[in-house]
Amino acid sequence: MNNEITDSGVATGLAKILADVAGRLAAAPLSARDPLHVPAVATADARVRGMVLRGVDTTRWTLRFHTDSRAPKARIIETQSAVGVLFYDREARVQIRCQGTGAVVRDGAEVDAAWEAATAFARRCYLGLAPGAVTGRPSSGLPDWVEGVRPTEEQLLPARRNFAILSVTVDEIDWFTLAHTGHRRAVFRRDDGWRGEWIAP
Ligand SMILES: Cc1cc2nc3c(=O)[nH]c(=O)nc-3n(C[C@H](O)[C@H](O)[C@H](O)COP(=O)(O)O)c2cc1C
Repeated sequence: MNNEITDSGVATGLAKILADVAGRLAAAPLSARDPLHVPAVATADARVRGMVLRGVDTTRWTLRFHTDSRAPKARIIETQSAVGVLFYDREARVQIRCQGTGAVVRDGAEVDAAWEAATAFARRCYLGLAPGAVTGRPSSGLPDWVEGVRPTEEQLLPARRNFAILSVTVDEIDWFTLAHTGHRRAVFRRDDGWRGEWIAP
């Protein structure tokens, strides 16, 4: 990670904050109990939804999510790629807002690896109706034959085409911490490397 910070007066503080953000994000996919495990992901159509953070690459500054390739958010991102991701750690009183560019990746080694690493029950979700399809009754959207059943590898084959990775490349981070003594806020923007500056909360 390039921690190049131009504001010499507060360089250490900003560099430490960026390193802290990287550490928090990297830890978030590893535990379902992590406060940053399910951030809110916003798309250009003003819709926001919770999504499990599956992986973070703090060298490329990418966030990895799994999704159904037929979901409305996939269509939006393919036409308007701006994505915002909001994290809040209540105990640490830290908000991290990431802005970046989303890409829906349907094929390739990374998608195949993510698919293979998922449990049969997780992959089963992708056998169902497209997210948002009208069911007319309370329903999981899954075909009846697979309700309450662990599907076989063969039965899961057609589900693979509905699985995709949403990869968000982060190019701006807005960090905000709440404190009785005065809130603090810093923004980091990425060009060649990261540049950070303190801004008013
Ligand atoms: C705790 C939680 C975790 C979720 N994780 C995911 C996820 O990892 N991927 C996903 O596509 N949807 C996930 N969802 C469902 C989304 O919030 C959303 O309802 C769904 O993806 C449809 O979104 P869309 O219509 O904007 O495409 C999750 C929902 C909850 C409540």
